[in-house]
Amino acid sequence: MKKIIIAIDGHSSCGKSTLARDLARELGYAYIDTGAMYRAVTLFFLEHQVDWNNPEAVREALNEIRIEFRVTEAGNQTVLNGEIVESTIRDMRVSDQVSQVSTVSAVRRAMVSQQQAMGHKRGVVLDGRDIGTVVFPDAELKIFLTASPEERVRRRFTELQAKGIAASEKQVRENLLERDRIDSTREDSPLKQAADARILDNTHLDRWQQLALALKWVREVQGI
Ligand code: DC
Repeated sequence: MKKIIIAIDGHSSCGKSTLARDLARELGYAYIDTGAMYRAVTLFFLEHQVDWNNPEAVREALNEIRIEFRVTEAGNQTVLNGEIVESTIRDMRVSDQVSQVSTVSAVRRAMVSQQQAMGHKRGVVLDGRDIGTVVFPDAELKIFLTASPEERVRRRFTELQAKGIAASEKQVRENLLERDRIDSTREDSPLKQAADARILDNTHLDRWQQLALALKWVREVQGI
């Protein structure tokens, strides 16, 4: 069966990674969590006090950063320079800075070229903000995922609580709306819907309903 690239873009906390993981599992594809890559860079910058407004410091730091994904029994793990950072990169201190770091063009260039190298053989699902517009504009299936802001805050808050990560609902709302604002208005590769993306609004859909719809689209583009 023809292997394709599936690009999922959308605002923060609308369930992109859940859909991406579910699709990857159903299709036997690799999953590339591009947000985790920007989070890992942010974690490195914070831990090494890298001033991301200083191009030379950013260039040097990027040379020292190696990001990989490891599939373990616990699921997809983000690995930064050999260390599993999957849960650390979800901390509020990283969430509060990641959108700023993601505006830095040198960071974006480095991440995009790694993502293109990881996905060039196809048979991959990527989720992020610029996948269908910049990383893989030739992806066979582009999904623009959306949900109401209230629903997104509720989901993120519940998710953080379940993981035992401390944050109030107010903090979660402010962080989410601020990230939406920065991600959609930045100069380099802002979040926007690709002209040929299919919109999936999952405000009133559960996980399995959204998966069923996305799988129907996969079969359509595969001509089945
Ligand atoms: O998907 P996420 O919430 O984990 O992403 C974290 C941040 O990374 C998000 O606020 C913007 C940035 N990001 C990006 O700029 N481009 C991507 N392809 C993915 C994420």
